[in-house]
Amino acid sequence: MRPAEDREVDRLLDEQVAYYRALAADHLDQGLDLPGGSELAEALEAFKPAGSVLELACGPGVWTSRLLRHTTDVTAVDASPQMLAIAAARVAGQPVRFIQADLFTWKPDRRYDVVFIGFWLSHVPAERFESFWSLVADCLKARGRVFIADDAYRTPDELIEGPSSSTIRRRIPDGTTFRLVKVPHQPADLERQLGRLGWHIKVTSTAGPFYWGAGSRAAAGPGTQRDTRT
Ligand SMILES: C[S@@+](CC[C@H](N)C(=O)[O-])C[C@H]1O[C@@H](n2cnc3c(N)ncnc32)[C@H](O)[C@@H]1O
Repeated sequence: MRPAEDREVDRLLDEQVAYYRALAADHLDQGLDLPGGSELAEALEAFKPAGSVLELACGPGVWTSRLLRHTTDVTAVDASPQMLAIAAARVAGQPVRFIQADLFTWKPDRRYDVVFIGFWLSHVPAERFESFWSLVADCLKARGRVFIADDAYRTPDELIEGPSSSTIRRRIPDGTTFRLVKVPHQPADLERQLGRLGWHIKVTSTAGPFYWGAGSRAAAGPGTQRDTRT
């Protein structure tokens, strides 16, 4: 029997999936119009996500189109069929394979040159952080690279369990509320956390609540390279 806390995390993650399924049609209106957003796109251009790219939690495909400027092909995974339908319409005729799957149980069927993670890492609870990064490792070729873009933005009314909790509540336009995970990662802490798991990912802040990260597995592999910075 799995511990009660684990089952509670599962329930929260199911509610998060339900939120994005219900929100899909309105998701594009929910973008954060805050300073720093444009820096993410510029950073991705500079990163040049060449080769075969895996996009995790692709949503309505906003980043998929950007990735296609550099890649030979994209595989885009998301739990929401509604989001995937919007994304598929946006990139019709281009080399994109869409997969509907829960990223907490999904197993990749091949490896990629680049894994792109847009506005998803902040929705991964602390309890699943390590296993999520082991999935990312399983998705990458030997010298594969990772790019993360995300934000640490939470409004006071979302913080139903207070600022120290990563559980928040959001509302869709018809008023229905859902609990979600939103971890307000701070770039330096995130970089250290990833370093402890054997990743070499430089995380950079922007002028606003956004941050981006780029890097790869540390040479010695996960778990074998310890970050000694304090
Ligand atoms: C904040 S949106 C990000 C979408 C897109 N990457 C972007 O930046 O516009 C989060 C996405 O995660 C997806 N999602 C939520 N839970 C998921 C899960 N367990 N497995 C896969 N995708 C999930 C949602 O359907 C939604 O499309």
